[in-house]
Amino acid sequence: MRTPIVAVAFSALFASAACAAAPDVQSLTTPCAECHGPAGVSRAAKTPHLNGQLADYLEQEIAGLADGGRATGVANHVPKTWSPADITAVAQFYAQSTAQRPAQAVDPQKVAQGNVIHGKRCAECHPDAGRRSDHDAPLMAGQDLDYMLGETRAFVSGKRKFVFLMDDAFRGLTPDELDAVAHFFASQAQVKK
Ligand code: HEC
Ligand code: HEC
Repeated sequence: MRTPIVAVAFSALFASAACAAAPDVQSLTTPCAECHGPAGVSRAAKTPHLNGQLADYLEQEIAGLADGGRATGVANHVPKTWSPADITAVAQFYAQSTAQRPAQAVDPQKVAQGNVIHGKRCAECHPDAGRRSDHDAPLMAGQDLDYMLGETRAFVSGKRKFVFLMDDAFRGLTPDELDAVAHFFASQAQVKK
């Protein structure tokens, strides 16, 4: 009588391992699409685009939204029940999305001012106008303007924690100057033509 029980236990183990190895990204991201769009191009206000973002950054932020490490205004933003494999698969799905971000209305004067500030303060980690990354920073080119305006304030107010040396980069900049960099990033094509 023992052998069949062991066999059943074994096949159950393999079945669950097989499920974990292939998360159903389509179902997992269906609720996300309401705000972030089906391919990561946001269609809600003040909502970040996820398409083409670095997979490692997305993975870190999705994990933070699931375990409460990142504060958020969205209720049950990422379900706590997501496994590490689900989080990795969804991060890779958005990172690999080649969908296009829409052009945004920006203030040309702020873009010009932001370009200068970016060169002095932000380019070390958000190089090539935010199209590349150093020191694990996220890509910023073409990111949603209103989202970035909100996040720079969230960093300054402490609602979102500075990482690495970004506090040094922000030190002494006025809210207007930080807004200008957000306009500069927003004015940039995500992929250089
Ligand atoms: C009701 C709208 C809404 C839904 C649904 C939603 N999000 Fe979000 N998401 C937002 C908003 C707004 C922000 C930025 C501010 C915040 O977190 O409150 C955000 C931020 C994020 C970020 C951070 C991006 C960055 O650049 O730092 C990630 C990653 C993310 N969401 C993933 C997801 C995933 C995965 C799902 C689905 C499980 C999801 N979101 C569902 C609105 C939403
Ligand atoms: C020393 C490296 C470094 C410098 C310099 C830096 N950043 Fe960052 N930035 C980061 C990292 C790393 C993150 C990701 C933060 C996290 O994990 O929460 C980030 C995130 C951001 C975000 C949030 C992006 C998102 O998708 O949520 C904004 C906005 C931002 N930076 C703006 C700026 C601006 C504006 C400057 C210049 C004034 C700047 N950064 C300079 C490293 C840097």
